[in-house]
Amino acid sequence: MQFTTTDAATSAVETDCLIIGLPEGNGLDGAAAEIDSAIGGVLTQLDKGSELPRKAGKTLMLHALTGIGARRILVVGLGKAEKLDAVAFDKAVKAAGKALRQSHATSAHCLLADAKVTDRDSDWKVRQAGIALAYADYVYSATKKPKDDAPPATDTVSFPAGKGAEQQLSLASAIAAGVQRARDLADLPPNICTPAYLAEIAETMAAEHDGLEVEILEDEEMEKLGMNALLAVAVGSANRPRLIRLSWSGGKDGDAPLAMVGKGVTFDTGGISIKPRDLMEQMKFDMGGAAATIGAMEAVARLKLPMNVEGVVAAVENMPDGKAYRPGDVITAMNGKTIEVHNTDAEGRMILADALTWTGRLKPDTTVDLATLTGACVVALGHHASAVMTQNDELAEELLAAGQRSADRTWRLPLWDDYQEQIESPFADMKNVGGMPAGSITAGCFLSRFAEGQRWAHVDIAGAAWQWGKPESGTGRPVGMLVDWLVNRAGGWNAVG
Ligand code: BES
Ligand code: MN
Ligand code: ZN
Repeated sequence: MQFTTTDAATSAVETDCLIIGLPEGNGLDGAAAEIDSAIGGVLTQLDKGSELPRKAGKTLMLHALTGIGARRILVVGLGKAEKLDAVAFDKAVKAAGKALRQSHATSAHCLLADAKVTDRDSDWKVRQAGIALAYADYVYSATKKPKDDAPPATDTVSFPAGKGAEQQLSLASAIAAGVQRARDLADLPPNICTPAYLAEIAETMAAEHDGLEVEILEDEEMEKLGMNALLAVAVGSANRPRLIRLSWSGGKDGDAPLAMVGKGVTFDTGGISIKPRDLMEQMKFDMGGAAATIGAMEAVARLKLPMNVEGVVAAVENMPDGKAYRPGDVITAMNGKTIEVHNTDAEGRMILADALTWTGRLKPDTTVDLATLTGACVVALGHHASAVMTQNDELAEELLAAGQRSADRTWRLPLWDDYQEQIESPFADMKNVGGMPAGSITAGCFLSRFAEGQRWAHVDIAGAAWQWGKPESGTGRPVGMLVDWLVNRAGGWNAVG
């Protein structure tokens, strides 16, 4: 999807589809009123019969209009004006985008940024509208080709020129590409998206972008480094692990980077502590943290952020096997700490343990790990928020604020020392599970022991990384939140692009 801007009067814009938003209530103003008079009062007529969609996310496509340059008008309901916040706006634009994709329009002109959104300026609205429209235009096609009569993708969307729209749309394109990258990877089946495949994608990206470097570690090097916790998980799979590092050097030489570390379990069977058969196929999404890390690096490179950023991915497959690690095993991690394995399905924390130790050696300013780590996180927060856990209040605030700003929300869970005792073991420095109470937090406690001395936060994205139900699909979250956080640390949107 390409974004453009135009100076043309709304009624004169030649496009397949004009998109307008209407809040609850009666009457028309602004662009809607202007269009209404150009098309001979059609909207007013519909409004009188309460036939215009005004409830949040409802849409209506009007065809065969005369008097304007557009072939169709897509009306989308914005809901109650006082409830139109960032998230509601994002949802409304996605609903419009979905209706647009289902139509046969290949171009559109978007007026949704005219809406009044609480606490959001016009830069944000244009940028977010672009990101959300691109999001809604996504259709999985890697292993299922669309039918010949399927509605096509939207090629171009124009916005009214001025007020910095051009720049915001170019930022939107970069972020949308990052989100799309994450969704593409997440949706791929686990027989294609293996650790080696993730490494290849990282290599391709590094070749495409000046300033983006890649480093890939395989078995031998990981063994030399003593990454036994990561290797313990990997040992049961024929798909050998990779530790992938994408480095963006947009900052000064020697400036400490911001680091992201993604859980890349390309398939999680649970290993010897095998999962039940139902819904196991969803565990292809267990590389959502890796997808978000790679997607965020894609956006960082396209935005050419004036800072140094590291994206580290621990990519493994968790399989049962004659060689697989087992409950009862004691493993010595890269930082020398011993782990008693109680459940081989608590594998994400095992691989992240060594990935965090390794990332610490890069001397980052801050490290944020992203992981579909616990089912308990879905119980706690559902699908609306990613969980942030950190002992650093300032960093928690940074990530919560970035989530709010980007409509990719995060919520904090406590990481108090009180929870640490749940992972004590008589046989090792810790065990890899903490029992039923606070399952997401005890996973965070486990990780904290491998991030000592780092300014670090853990983000559990188990509920956010993919949409459950039909169709199952990667969401690209939390690329939006991460990019917002990075941009903010780089000095804000004005310092970019
Ligand atoms: N990848 C899963 C977590 C998960 C489960 C994410 C369902 C999204 C949906 C993780 O590796 C896992 O299996 N965690 C276990 C931990 C337990 C053994 C302590 C879990 O949540 O049950
Ligand atoms: Mn697991
Ligand atoms: Zn897992």
